[in-house]
Amino acid sequence: MNSNTYVENTTDFCRNLNIDLVKNVFVFDELSSTNIKAKELARHGEQEGTIVISRVQTKGRGRFDRKWESPDGGLYFSVIFRPQVKSDKTTLLSLVAALSICETINSIYAISSTIKWPNDVRINGKKVAGILLESESDGNKLDFVILGMGINLNTHIDQLSPELKSTSTSIVNELKQSVDHHEFLRYLLLTLNKYYTVFLNHDINSILSEWKKHSDALGRNVKIVTSSDEIVGKALDIDESGFLIVVTDSGEHKKVTSGDCFYIE
Ligand code: BTN
Repeated sequence: MNSNTYVENTTDFCRNLNIDLVKNVFVFDELSSTNIKAKELARHGEQEGTIVISRVQTKGRGRFDRKWESPDGGLYFSVIFRPQVKSDKTTLLSLVAALSICETINSIYAISSTIKWPNDVRINGKKVAGILLESESDGNKLDFVILGMGINLNTHIDQLSPELKSTSTSIVNELKQSVDHHEFLRYLLLTLNKYYTVFLNHDINSILSEWKKHSDALGRNVKIVTSSDEIVGKALDIDESGFLIVVTDSGEHKKVTSGDCFYIE
């Protein structure tokens, strides 16, 4: 598909979606990062439910400022949210996104994906999607949240760098056939809409219980690496903010707010 066709088709498709959450859509053939663009738009007052999609990203970013490889074939988009909640509740939105991606994959295709805390979506232990949540506050008041999602949809593994090849997968790689971008996007936005409504209704327990059904982290021996610390123990639970509770060998309960999680077999 040539680049103009991508932009036109995707714009038309999104405008006709008829999903409450989707208020406005900006589609690009190429962007540095959909999160950066969405942040610019949000700073200029763009409303909740604005979606920024790009066919490719030249500077796709992951958690901890890592690179997110974004070749043609993947799905890269960011959504502006303006929930009236305290800033410490926004972490839950990344769980909402991971849950929505996982549910979408498992519902549309005959494959099973799982969530590794906090929000890596994986198939057979390999990463298929990631989420980057960024927020800005005005004093004490949360101004906006940008939820960026990258899904290796029709990405062929040989489009990724050698470092990623052994740890990543894609839907086309698992199914051995390419999938319909639009069908995936529609299902994902519907699911995101469903769980965002649950979030706004403060029904946090429903989100956590669905997340737990899809997560393969709880009950596992884990090592969590943060910028300043390493925590080894058993992943016990997640709390109402989406933080991981780890019980160490000495029986101490530690609450982990962010970091990389490794399973110890
Ligand atoms: C991670 O797993 O480290 C998070 C990856 C998030 C990637 C998505 S792609 C769309 C949006 N734009 C970005 O630059 N990053 C997010």
